[in-house]
Amino acid sequence: MAAQAFPDDFVWGVATSAFQIEGAHDVDGRGPSIWDVYAEQPGLIEDGSNAQVACDHYHRYPEDIALMASLGLDAYRFSIAWPRILPAGRGAVNVAGLDFYDRLVDGLLAAGIAPWPTLYHWDLPQALEDEGGWTNRATVDAFIELADAVSARLGDRVEHWITHNEPWCVSVLGHAYGVHAPGRRDWGEALVASHHLLLSHGRAVPVIRRNSPGAKVGITTLVSECVPASPSEADRISTTQYDGELNRWFLDPIYLGLYPKDVIEYHQREGRLPDGMNFVRPGDLEEIKTPIDFLGVNYYSRAVVRSATIPEADNEPRTIPLPDPAELTDMGWEVYPDGLTRTLTRLSADYEPGSMVVTENGAAYATAPGPDGSVQDTRRCDYLKSHLQACLAAIDAGVPLHGYFLWSLLDNFEWAFGFAKRFGIVWVDFETQERIIKASGHLYSRIVRDNKLPKEQAA
Ligand code: FCB
Repeated sequence: MAAQAFPDDFVWGVATSAFQIEGAHDVDGRGPSIWDVYAEQPGLIEDGSNAQVACDHYHRYPEDIALMASLGLDAYRFSIAWPRILPAGRGAVNVAGLDFYDRLVDGLLAAGIAPWPTLYHWDLPQALEDEGGWTNRATVDAFIELADAVSARLGDRVEHWITHNEPWCVSVLGHAYGVHAPGRRDWGEALVASHHLLLSHGRAVPVIRRNSPGAKVGITTLVSECVPASPSEADRISTTQYDGELNRWFLDPIYLGLYPKDVIEYHQREGRLPDGMNFVRPGDLEEIKTPIDFLGVNYYSRAVVRSATIPEADNEPRTIPLPDPAELTDMGWEVYPDGLTRTLTRLSADYEPGSMVVTENGAAYATAPGPDGSVQDTRRCDYLKSHLQACLAAIDAGVPLHGYFLWSLLDNFEWAFGFAKRFGIVWVDFETQERIIKASGHLYSRIVRDNKLPKEQAA
């Protein structure tokens, strides 16, 4: 039986992102982001909503800090809205935007909660998109302006920084599948964007270190265990390709300083690299490989992959949901905790990151308040326990896992799904902005305080 207790210095947190919770879209000089523009287009957000108000966290952050303090959390992962800091993407800094994060950081520290800001969680200023967005190499320089302005202001108090959240989603969902802002459907552009995202990460690391001496700097990637839909040779090959596209394309440059050869060849065969890899300039990979202090891992589910011989319809991914609907969350994602153990173990072996942190893990279930006003989200409780058990198994196997951030503190604007998917351990009534801690929130609080899983989980 694996140990039930977590290491003494294990960091317990929750995660959110600016666009999904802040609202206040036109307040204090904030400029428009690509997600504001994307959400305005009819039909792109499932429930027709937008994030102009969302959880109104911009105004209610003191209440949200108090909520986190009541749960006993050690840390809070949030993101910085680029369009608040540099409304035109680059150039003049909007001091009122920096002031907001300054207040947030001070409020967190006063409550004994460590701030873990992410510099980019998808809300690119529209002004930069108008010049090509992440497909334009100049956006790398603009990101460095952001990293510099934010770390110069907060660097004396922030001890953990994350450059990017899930560059795969930004590049592939946003530029190849077109299901995220900016909604492009061009694989070539997606690959160029991925390189610029990685380059901006590598270049930001020394800038942050200069402004925030002694701080730890990392990046967060989405990872999945990729498994073939059948034992066929074709499915096996496709699985290696998908693992390459999703996991190795991002982690190999960061840790090994190269793009994986088999994935380059695969993209080439698919006609996605019409000009080869000429967007990679001499020296880029050395910069991307700048050593970092920790790897942030976002894990939700595994990816079951079917053969590429089935043509990709409209650039859709080849992953398929698995069999038992009882095991699917409201996102249609399979509950698969063993994949988390195996993914952590594999990344630890392949890349030797030194320190790893689960920067997101959680589940969407719509469970609403019952007649007594409480939210009995039993399935989220089960998801949480099984995935924390999976973390313990990884630690037991020697993985240097140092923290866990649950996604998410609040029900929020779930990108193209709008408010239709609820990931929070705190229920949000979007009419009144009332917050109710769900059963999963109470459970998490107990786990955090005890630093171990409840007894009944012991196997
Ligand atoms: C992740 C995103 C996060 C949230 C969760 C459900 O990919 O980083 O913003 O949408 O999925």
